[in-house]
Amino acid sequence: MIIAPGPASIELGLKIAELLGIRTVPIELKTFPDGESYIRYTEDIGGEDVVIVQNTCPPQEVNLIQLVLLIDAAKDLKANSVTAVVPYLAYARQMKRSRSGEAVSIKAIIKLIEKAGADRFITVNIHEKDILKWFNIRVQNLSAIPLLANFLKDHGYAGAFSLAPDDGALEANKEADKVLGGGYGCLYKDRDVITGEVKAKRKKFDVRGRDCVVFDDIVSTGETMEVAIKTLKNQDARKVCAACVHPILVAGAIERVLGSGAELIIGTDSVPSTVSIVSIAPIIAEALKRKA
Ligand code: R5P
Repeated sequence: MIIAPGPASIELGLKIAELLGIRTVPIELKTFPDGESYIRYTEDIGGEDVVIVQNTCPPQEVNLIQLVLLIDAAKDLKANSVTAVVPYLAYARQMKRSRSGEAVSIKAIIKLIEKAGADRFITVNIHEKDILKWFNIRVQNLSAIPLLANFLKDHGYAGAFSLAPDDGALEANKEADKVLGGGYGCLYKDRDVITGEVKAKRKKFDVRGRDCVVFDDIVSTGETMEVAIKTLKNQDARKVCAACVHPILVAGAIERVLGSGAELIIGTDSVPSTVSIVSIAPIIAEALKRKA
């Protein structure tokens, strides 16, 4: 097995290879004057089981196209098998048609990945597990929540209350509670399908004077976190941490989350950022050790 660290995930790819003690194949990337990507495997990959690590965080379109070029080239260069490791799968939040005429974007993305020739797909905390059924290749969805929760347990949050900012994050917060042990709860979130504005139903939690963590898969604008953190702070929680697997963090998101009363925001290196403190390399390396 060899690792091909794609341009969007070089550090993560190298970490995974180091944990597995296997070779990496450097990828040459050039960008043409019109913005198109040029991709080249700089070593022979014929007959190898190639693991491409390439995230599809912003800029999504560029990173997705590079992923497709990497998969297609690996097949064309006669790789024995191609595994695509895509920790954050772009467009996974558009998985149903809320308004007539909408594209169900994630279906198109899955078709692209499969048609390019991937034999196996590994992702981390996919936004909605139902998406997995649309894959026809072997697919694994890993969870980075225990890694985040263990980090927080070792850094002053043992016994903290875990809060899901919406029902989609409930399972993650149950998982976190197995590590932190302070109980868990869930807010009901409603997002306006046109404006994107987030509102949560009022709910009372037993958090007075207690430490809390809000676990979510993604922080993008930070609006969802803001609503959850304010809910906890308004109910006299002591310190509150915002923890996510994929810190997408569009401009102003960190300020928004900290400004709403969180003392800390942490994420994983699924998406490189200033808060990507916890590495997901160990869970990916473990998954790769299990035979395809
Ligand atoms: C949506 O349900 C996701 O799980 C996240 O809660 C959401 O994507 C976060 O987005 P934002 O930070 O823009 O509120």
